[in-house]
Amino acid sequence: MSFPIVVLISGSGSNLQALINQSLQGQLNVTISAVISNKADAYGLERAREAGIPTHTLSHKAFDSREEFDAALQIIIDQYSPKLVVLAGFMRILSEGFATHYLGRMLNIHPSLLPKFKGLDTHQRAIDAREKEHGVSVHFVSPELDAGAVIIQAATLIENNDTADSLGNKIHALEHIIYPLAVRWFSEGRVTFHDGKALLDHKELPASGILYNNTLQ
Ligand code: GAR
Repeated sequence: MSFPIVVLISGSGSNLQALINQSLQGQLNVTISAVISNKADAYGLERAREAGIPTHTLSHKAFDSREEFDAALQIIIDQYSPKLVVLAGFMRILSEGFATHYLGRMLNIHPSLLPKFKGLDTHQRAIDAREKEHGVSVHFVSPELDAGAVIIQAATLIENNDTADSLGNKIHALEHIIYPLAVRWFSEGRVTFHDGKALLDHKELPASGILYNNTLQ
């Protein structure tokens, strides 16, 4: 089996689809061992089944506390012994124990140019703040929300007529490029995590990671 990863989702799973597509096309040498959703109706589960990937649903509503849900989730994930856990629109705040267990081997994609706009509704907030540009970040997950070391960002200009939806579509298109790229770099051992920092090819990345351009491979 090539590099085993587990992907966690809560919704549409278009980033999951980008990972599936690139691995089918041989551009990404990983095996998606399982897809886990905290929502039974997440469309991403359909995408996974279509691709023949084992799926699990674990509803957070069945647990009394965040810690108990995360502990149960961790047991499912660890059955697969993944080398990387990929959060792809997994809309849960993580307990400290869970984030620490996967420190240095769990990535998240967040739709903003971190450290700007942590949390939700990032496209509308970027428009309301009259930002000139907006973007997306792939980062290592740390116990603090949306605060782990950034690997890569991609940016786009905010046009006068952009709405949260139009901006969201542009961001999604960028996500589908940079998330598979970051996962590939990690699987190839090119991206590593050391003392809370992200490194690419043994060089420490700046706090905002590397900025995407189409010559990056
Ligand atoms: C993506 O835009 C991702 O950046 C965002 O959820 C969306 C999932 O889309 N993640 C977060 O907001 C995490 N804080 P998808 O289900 O189509 O991949």
